[in-house]
Amino acid sequence: MNLYDRIPNNVNLSEDKKLQRALEKWLPNYLDWWREMGPDGFQEKDVWLRTAIDVGSEGWAHFDYVKMPEYRWGIFLEPAQPDAKVGFGDNHGRPVYQEVPGEFRNALRRIIVTQGDTEPASVEQQRQLGKTCPSLYDLRNLFQVNVEEGRHLWAMVYLLHGYFGRDGRDEADDLLQRRSGNPDKPRILEAFNQPCDDWLNFFAFTMFTERDGKYQLSALAESGFEPLARTCKFMLTEEAHHMFVGDTGLGRVCRRTAQLMKEGDVRELGGIPLEIIQKYINFWFSYSLDLFGGEISSNSADFFAAGLKGRYKEQDQYTDHLATNETFTMTVVEDGGLKTREVGLRNALNEVLRGEYVKDCEKGLARWNKVLAEEGVSERLFLPHPRFHRHVGEYAGHTFDLQGNLISPAEFEQHKSEWLPTLEDREYVRSLMHPVYEVGKIANWIAPPAAGIKGKPFEFEYVRL
Ligand SMILES: [Fe+2]
Ligand SMILES: [Fe+2]
Repeated sequence: MNLYDRIPNNVNLSEDKKLQRALEKWLPNYLDWWREMGPDGFQEKDVWLRTAIDVGSEGWAHFDYVKMPEYRWGIFLEPAQPDAKVGFGDNHGRPVYQEVPGEFRNALRRIIVTQGDTEPASVEQQRQLGKTCPSLYDLRNLFQVNVEEGRHLWAMVYLLHGYFGRDGRDEADDLLQRRSGNPDKPRILEAFNQPCDDWLNFFAFTMFTERDGKYQLSALAESGFEPLARTCKFMLTEEAHHMFVGDTGLGRVCRRTAQLMKEGDVRELGGIPLEIIQKYINFWFSYSLDLFGGEISSNSADFFAAGLKGRYKEQDQYTDHLATNETFTMTVVEDGGLKTREVGLRNALNEVLRGEYVKDCEKGLARWNKVLAEEGVSERLFLPHPRFHRHVGEYAGHTFDLQGNLISPAEFEQHKSEWLPTLEDREYVRSLMHPVYEVGKIANWIAPPAAGIKGKPFEFEYVRL
């Protein structure tokens, strides 16, 4: 097999022998990891998958049956812009960097490793889900998400190998060593150590946690470190589908629940009650908010100053790309109460990015509530306040209700089972999860999708079992 077939790429890998050797050494370890930790029980099945074969408008979305271990993972970067300039921060307007700025080497490596770690982590979290899929359509979507996360790991490993020397190669090896939820060698971020063992978790994860990824990648997609920017841009094109899976998946669960509500008791009819859906929203939204980091952050200021990590849609949304004079009003906990504090804007950029994310999530809630309205039920779902159930930043270590009011830990404990999934809720949801493998059939707890994939009907053999 020639190099391009082994490692498809648009980074001229054949001209960089050192990088080529490093990646070829990493490749079999990656495949071992995929076989050990990828979807359990489906490795030899033909799955109708989208594969990126190049980054052109046609080539990046090629659809055909593929066995997952034969998926063409590869390394694809968005084509370079001639004369690209640093878009923000203290070096605004200077040429973009082709090498890592020395003083940011460690911090940037950390960002890339942390982003990279989430990709295999989610594959591990979702490893058993195929065995309880609600339909072949959903099974295929799960595998599509899984193989693309595998490719995103490749993208991050390319950066580590290509730009961080020995340290980068060690980090790339470690990315295959950690395991989601393993107490001895856990994945880096907490949301990626949470179990994702039923499909309601999966849809909430792809809706809320993957959406954090969208905002992190967007902030890096305009990075002054050009290889990182180009890598993130291409990953974002694939991430859109992952969020679609979560958003429409939860919408379909809401539709089915609403239909069952009109027929009688949702539990007795084998559906997922709205209050359980709400608790899953509360759980995954709050864990996903933590991924943005502390509200007040000198790291965010340093990264912005260096032109490495910007704001969401920095070029489109802002005219002042220096952000030196403005302040941001933050709500903090002080002397047992909530107080406001003025913070320099550059130190508040995690919170600014989180705010963009919250707005985006609210649109999802509006779509699901529209489904409930269409089905004629009056109940509505909502997002908890961003202070609720936080483990990182200003609000960690304090307890809040769903409206964001500061409450005592005892009060929180008293209401916890109303706000977050209980063991019983999780067991109940799991009790509904039985595989549906017949073409065109769907589980009772979820409505079919409005359309199939890429013009195919829902009644298509998306996975050949
Ligand atoms: Fe990803
Ligand atoms: Fe993703």
